[in-house]
Amino acid sequence: MAERTPSFDLSGYTIPTHVAIIMDGNGRWARQRGLPRQAGHRAGAENLRRIINACVEFRIKILTIYAFSTENWGRPELEVRGLMKIISRVIDQELKDLHAQGVCLHHLGSMTGIDPGLQEKVRRALELTKNNDRLILNVAFNYGGRAEILEAVKHILADNVAPEELTEALFSSYLFTRGLPDPDLVIRTSGELRISNFLIWQAAYSEFYPTPVYWPDFGREELYEAILVFNQRERRFGLVTEP
Ligand code: IPE
Ligand code: IPE
Ligand code: MG
Repeated sequence: MAERTPSFDLSGYTIPTHVAIIMDGNGRWARQRGLPRQAGHRAGAENLRRIINACVEFRIKILTIYAFSTENWGRPELEVRGLMKIISRVIDQELKDLHAQGVCLHHLGSMTGIDPGLQEKVRRALELTKNNDRLILNVAFNYGGRAEILEAVKHILADNVAPEELTEALFSSYLFTRGLPDPDLVIRTSGELRISNFLIWQAAYSEFYPTPVYWPDFGREELYEAILVFNQRERRFGLVTEP
C-alpha cells in the first residue's frame, strides 16, 4: 500500500515557475553510512523520483537539475564511469513513467565525450517526451556555465551578429535554456555556498537557497520548506521598494 503522505497546502503562496537544484552531498551521505560513494550516487538518483513527483504536485513548471558538471570529469575514472552508468540506468528505468507523467526532458550541456550508446539513449528520451508539458525537466549533464557561454559566443560569431544587434535577450537565445525563463529559485544541498559553474548567466537574479541536507535526504518536505522560504524573500531586481 502506498505510504500516506500529509498534504502540503500551498494555496496563497507564490510557486516558483523554475526551480534549479545543485544536487550535492551524495559522497558525504554515503561516507556517513560507511558506504562507497557509488551507493550515495545511487541513493541520489532514487531521490530524483521523489523530487520530480513533488514538483508535479506543487505545480512547479520547470525543474533543472545539475547531474554532471564539466569539472566532474576530473574525478577518479571509476567514479565517472559509475555516474554514467547510473544516468543510463535512470533513463532505462524511469523514461516510461516520466513520459506517462507528462515530463518533457531537455538536455543542458554537451554530448562531446559521452559514450555513443548513452548519447543515443538521451536523444531518444528527448524525442519521446518533446511534446509533454506538465513539467519541463532540464538535465544539466556534461554541463558548465562557462562552456555554455563560450559555445553561445562561438555561434553568435558564426551567425555574424552585429554588435549593435546583440542584446541580453538575443544572447539568452543562444544558451541551452533558450526559450525558458530564468530560475526563480536555486537550491544547493549539502551546505556548500557556491555556484560551481551552474547557470551562471541564468541565475543572475535567482533566489539562492542553501540547505545542509545531503541530496539523497532532500525530499518533498524539504522542497516544500524551500518554497515557503522563497515566499519570504523580497525580489527587488536592483530596484527600491516603496516604504
Ligand atoms: C553530487 O554529490 C553528485 C555529483 C557531483 C555528480 P557529490 O559526489 O559531489 O558528493 P560530495 O560533495 O562528495 O559529498
Ligand atoms: C556540483 O557539485 C556539480 C553537480 C552537482 C553535478 P560538485 O560537488 O562537483 O561541486 P564542488 O566541487 O563542490 O564545487
Ligand atoms: Mg560535491
